[in-house]
Amino acid sequence: METVITYILLLLTFSSSKALDSKNSTQKTYFEKIELNHETRTMKIFNTKGEDIVNARLGHTLDEMKPQSCPTGNQSPGHICLEWERKARLDLHAYELNTTAKCYNFKWTALGGIDSLIDCFQFSDKEHWYGGGQNVKSSFHFDKGFHKYSPFITGRIGDNNWGNLLKRYFISSRGAALLVDDLSPLHTSLNEKQFCLKAQYDDFAFVNHVRRNLELNYTICTSSNTAILHSKLIEDAMWEGLKKQDFENIDTLITEPIWEITTNAAALNEEKISNLGTDIIQLGFLKLGHIFINEFWQKRIGDFTMDPARFSKFENLIHVLHRRGFKIILTIQPFISTESSSFIDAVKKELLISERSCDHRIPALTRYKSLQAAGVLDPTKLEHSNGY
Ligand SMILES: *[C@@H]1O[C@H](CO)[C@@H](O)[C@H](O)[C@H]1NC(C)=O
Ligand SMILES: *[C@@H]1O[C@H](CO)[C@@H](O)[C@H](O)[C@H]1NC(C)=O
Ligand SMILES: *[C@@H]1O[C@H](CO)[C@@H](O)[C@H](O)[C@H]1NC(C)=O
Repeated sequence: METVITYILLLLTFSSSKALDSKNSTQKTYFEKIELNHETRTMKIFNTKGEDIVNARLGHTLDEMKPQSCPTGNQSPGHICLEWERKARLDLHAYELNTTAKCYNFKWTALGGIDSLIDCFQFSDKEHWYGGGQNVKSSFHFDKGFHKYSPFITGRIGDNNWGNLLKRYFISSRGAALLVDDLSPLHTSLNEKQFCLKAQYDDFAFVNHVRRNLELNYTICTSSNTAILHSKLIEDAMWEGLKKQDFENIDTLITEPIWEITTNAAALNEEKISNLGTDIIQLGFLKLGHIFINEFWQKRIGDFTMDPARFSKFENLIHVLHRRGFKIILTIQPFISTESSSFIDAVKKELLISERSCDHRIPALTRYKSLQAAGVLDPTKLEHSNGY
């Protein structure tokens, strides 16, 4: 009888461990906090409290199969390298931001046979995600939006998914942040609370001029404190390169009023601006703030000089307004009218954006507000222009 029981027990332990094995052998834990299923590539990242704050499925363009460790990747503490079928390789690095925040860098490299790399994140009902920038269905919670795959580049809301100001930075209310490297040819989609990152070259937004290997490179940082995480990630980069005067300007722009003259271009003149000043003073504000002058201080947009007909004594007016306590803001645009005095000069110096696959000395033209034809300054060329 005893032997029978022992036998059954043995059988039980054997079969249950066998079951566990087959179920769990594909489930690996990395850096204590990342759980990755090798076959399905579902992933969870846990915070220090043991809550899963990132839920993802990696490698959508790969088949369900187990990876090998990389033949060339020297695995060291803080570095894991896995390779799927000679199709793609994943380098995973872990590091500490400071003792309260941990980061994991995921770098996918396509090795052959696939033309895109896709990782998707599932947003739960317990959290909100913020960031990216202005987008279609724009709401403060980025997770409420919806868009099909499109390149993560600036555009016009309505025609495109993303607006004018973008940053490859997303952060959740539960203390996870996602930062995508600038060199990844990033497309995004958002559907039913599933947010996908796709790296893919194309012939418009991300042209692979130098035949780089396709990469999807991003970093996930986690902390039990979202506020600390955000300030840690953003504070240094955000203020980089600003001078003391810039900080003072930002401060007054945020804390003091900005007054704009609502008049059509031709009617904007010194008298209007001076009168506005007088009107504002009568309102009795403690801080007068800024007078904001739209781009029609120029005769033609792109002249970058005051229209002499309407602003012959502008310097004098500025002194008066400064003495009264105002600050003056002039608007400038990167658009240079073909009729402006700067256009020919900018073409000669090749400072304007050119059409792709055209002679780069020929500028591309666009429309802007009332302008029929304008070139657009290419800021990446400005450094060669001796401070144009
Ligand atoms: C095996 O996986 C299941 C669920 O995926 C989990 O509940 C269980 O604890 C795991 N067992 C081991 C030994 O890791
Ligand atoms: C981590 O960084 C945050 C934000 O800068 C700071 O408030 C916190 O004290 C830091 N923690 C440690 C242990 O250094
Ligand atoms: C991946 O992205 C990080 C962060 O932007 C960057 O520091 C790193 O150099 C990138 N790695 C590669 C191989 O491009």
